[in-house]
Amino acid sequence: MDDVKGTMTTLIPSKLTDEVVSRYKDCPDPRLKEIMISLVKHLHSFAREVKLTETEWIKGIEFVTQVGQFCDEMRQEFILLSDVLGLEMTVVEINHGIGAGETEATLQGPFYVPGAPELPKGAMVSGNPEGEPLDVTGKIQDPKGKPIGNALIDVWQAGEDGLYSSQDPGKQKYELRGKFRSDRDGDYHFKSVLPKGYQIPTDGPVGDLMRATGRPPWRPAHLHFMVSARGYKALTTHLFVKGAPHINEDAVFGVKESLIQDFKPNLDGKGYTLNYSFVLSQA
Ligand code: BEZ
Ligand code: FE
Repeated sequence: MDDVKGTMTTLIPSKLTDEVVSRYKDCPDPRLKEIMISLVKHLHSFAREVKLTETEWIKGIEFVTQVGQFCDEMRQEFILLSDVLGLEMTVVEINHGIGAGETEATLQGPFYVPGAPELPKGAMVSGNPEGEPLDVTGKIQDPKGKPIGNALIDVWQAGEDGLYSSQDPGKQKYELRGKFRSDRDGDYHFKSVLPKGYQIPTDGPVGDLMRATGRPPWRPAHLHFMVSARGYKALTTHLFVKGAPHINEDAVFGVKESLIQDFKPNLDGKGYTLNYSFVLSQA
């Protein structure tokens, strides 16, 4: 199929597929049964649609083997693969529809590290990072504008060199990370540095795939947030810098219009300010 917009609308039937599907009929877990049967049907149909050759099949096996071999405590090549295929964003779309004015969710990606230190309101994220100073302020609120106090705001971002602390042994474990709490009026505040665009890791099999398919590996400049509060649905999202390079060609499809924000230069010429209020929905 040479039409890039073409989509497979029907599954290709076969006796073999029916036989494989029937072997799952006694699966005791109904959800696992549903997932496995659908997976088998789509996988078989995909192979038939592209008329997969044996050489291509083994190449695919070698590719996913390499993806697994590239994973360790710090490197998650499978999440990266899922991200460049748009799978993580598909899962986000399925599970986080646009509700009554809530902040939109986007992907988490492979670089979240749990356990960042909780820091006082107004503090700098960990690690004295280099870069142009950035003040981030705003509220955590519900869709009616009611402030949410004591919400936890877990923040992470890449450094000036485009690397997260988990990618770079030269950085402290929690550099450019931190947790902050909203006060009783729902206000939060932290300091950081202006984020820069960066390339997703290209030194592994996912990088080989991006090169082989002619896809740019760039992500536009962004901050990551995980916001949670008792009684509300946890939110994982980013805020993107308006006008940042690659904003229309994010390698992992995370950009949503509502998440592109004005990081305003300060009038005194020193640094930037971002004001953004997060809206959480009831759990
Ligand atoms: C990130 O923004 O940290 C990211 C997300 C998906 C893939 C690679 C990086
Ligand atoms: Fe990122």
